[in-house]
Amino acid sequence: MNLPGLPAQASTHAGDIDFVLGLEHWGMLVLFVFFLGYFVYVLFRFRRGANPSADYAGMKSQWSIYVVAAIALSEVVLLVAYELPEWNERINNLPSPQEATVVRVVAEQFAWNVHYPGADGAFGRTDVNLVASENPLGLDRSDPAAADDITAINQLTLPVNRPVLIHLTSKDVIHSFAVYEMRVKQDAIPGTDSPVWFTPTVTTEEMRRRLGKPDFEYEIACSQLCGLGHYRMRGFLNVRTEAEYQAYLAEEARALRRPTP
Ligand code: CUA
Repeated sequence: MNLPGLPAQASTHAGDIDFVLGLEHWGMLVLFVFFLGYFVYVLFRFRRGANPSADYAGMKSQWSIYVVAAIALSEVVLLVAYELPEWNERINNLPSPQEATVVRVVAEQFAWNVHYPGADGAFGRTDVNLVASENPLGLDRSDPAAADDITAINQLTLPVNRPVLIHLTSKDVIHSFAVYEMRVKQDAIPGTDSPVWFTPTVTTEEMRRRLGKPDFEYEIACSQLCGLGHYRMRGFLNVRTEAEYQAYLAEEARALRRPTP
């Protein structure tokens, strides 16, 4: 079920995340209404008119302790039964590189660099000394593994219904990779490879139809304040059918082989 006010769901785990979000928020609503009601009750019950002399001992029954214990217990249940298993699934059950589309995403001020391993399935060597405006990843094209690597800026193209494993890192400061419809958000930290995985279930085309918005795009937002250009650090995730994705890779591979004029 899609909770009101949340973006559309477009990954296999989006419903689970929303379920936990729903439990937390409905629980908070119950607590809010309960405590507000209790507050009003206390204002009335212990008004000065009914209690001319103050009683410093306060309440003598134990029920308030039981209520607080029940709240604490329900929070432990929420944490242990729902939140930790969901977190464990995201952190520890990474898909194998054989079943997943594996791609690197390298954040920088203020763009998302995308790096595909190409047909050989191996990421080519990168070197910080090779970083230049036309080679933002510092990819060493003389490395045999790098020859077929495909790169893109602010455009991440992925196939639908197949797990995606993103190796996320950053060149400069801490950024955060967020795709709301996928219910994915992960900090990109310099010098650290943070794996992010999800399985997109709705192509961009299909989502445009569902939302009735012909120009809809999945946005890759940076959700960590990272500098003056933070507001314009946005990329796009294009979810395509498997055939369209293969066509995209083939076209990019052809472009690589074309001699640059
Ligand atoms: Cu990168 Cu904000």
